[in-house]
Amino acid sequence: MTNVKLTEEEKRMLEGEQGKVRQICMEYLVEMCEISGAERLVDLDGTGDMHTPGIVMSPYYGISIEDLRELVAAKEHFKIPTFADKSPFPEQPPIHGWESCNICSYRQAGIRQDDPSFHAKAMHKEEFDLLRKLGMITTHSCANYLTMTYWPTVGQHCSWFESSQIPYCNAVLGARTNFDGSFATCFLGKAPYYGMHITENRYATVLVKTDRLIHTDLEWDVFGYAVGCDVKCDVPVLTGTAKPTTTQYQKLNSAIHTGGAVEMYHIPGSTPEAPTLDFALGGRKPRRETLIGETELRRAYEYLNYHTSDTVDMVYLGCPHLNIVDLMKLTAKMDGKKVQIPMWVMTAPWLYHSAEELGYVRSLANAGITLMSGACLAAMGAVPEGVRCIAVDTAKQANYVTGCYPDDDVKLQVCYGTTDECIDAALTGRWRGEWR
Ligand code: F3S
Repeated sequence: MTNVKLTEEEKRMLEGEQGKVRQICMEYLVEMCEISGAERLVDLDGTGDMHTPGIVMSPYYGISIEDLRELVAAKEHFKIPTFADKSPFPEQPPIHGWESCNICSYRQAGIRQDDPSFHAKAMHKEEFDLLRKLGMITTHSCANYLTMTYWPTVGQHCSWFESSQIPYCNAVLGARTNFDGSFATCFLGKAPYYGMHITENRYATVLVKTDRLIHTDLEWDVFGYAVGCDVKCDVPVLTGTAKPTTTQYQKLNSAIHTGGAVEMYHIPGSTPEAPTLDFALGGRKPRRETLIGETELRRAYEYLNYHTSDTVDMVYLGCPHLNIVDLMKLTAKMDGKKVQIPMWVMTAPWLYHSAEELGYVRSLANAGITLMSGACLAAMGAVPEGVRCIAVDTAKQANYVTGCYPDDDVKLQVCYGTTDECIDAALTGRWRGEWR
């Protein structure tokens, strides 16, 4: 017996009157309510985002492929537009019978999967075919908002599941999501009503100031990480910054949800729920003020840079997945150049195909760069043999990539800096980055 207030229809689902899959999904959502303290569920009117296959937080493991077949045969459908996140474990053997893979240029990168038709086979695995028939749009990206042509609008209730996307949904789009996208939320179109779904919880409680104008890509990245470390799960309002670009929002969102677990922030004059500082604070005084200035930024930068030598073995860009403008800029920068060490660049599969049409894939290949899609180095858990030090340009990857190193005795070292410093490292094999 649960104390969660359910509608008559939700109770029927929980009792199994609408079939096994709905019952499993409802049991999961009720448990989520009990854990989070939500008193009820909210009907979603926005969009969904989930990992494929569903990971631990999803009830997916209780649902067999036979169940999916039956749902398809019964012409069932996800209740809300549902997008696929990156496939996090492309090389691993099936987990609970589910395989997951979707990546371009895998073979060229020289990692373990060497079947040239891997991508095509992955895209047409029965699992994905069934999910597509249920309505999933298989974008396979941790930045699938870059490929969505159907964004949720201000105030719409969503259920997304990728850490860097959560602040994008809440802060940048003004839609509402917790960190809970799953088969259950997307299939039923319902989510526990707590956290970011509630207006009151979206106002800023921490006023963040800085003594340095935050305007470069690296500054936004380091700033986001340092703010996250400081405010943890609170909602900050960021003041004293320039207006972020799309790339800078990507960096800020991924960094702020890595340094901390920030799901929502405001930038007065930039984000939709903060036309003014007073608005962002809900007309109240902040609970506290904090300074993320020169000292805090340098500390975060140094923390993210952990290498004992300046020799770089590999460069990795594309965390979160690169947008098409950054692919264009990178292609232009690499024109006529040749990298001396492996350089991998990750993007969304849909953008990979656009980059192919635009000639970027070939140009980057001529420069010795492997453009890949649909996964993430940290999630893939693989770097080429012999790589001991990697250069990256985002705090999130710097933070997580060491955890992927296959040899537990050797910690992968990381040089962290600007995209240009990473390119220089790819061309010379040396790290010459510094905090300026
Ligand atoms: Fe995406 Fe992996 Fe970065 S999931 S945000 S590329 S750590």
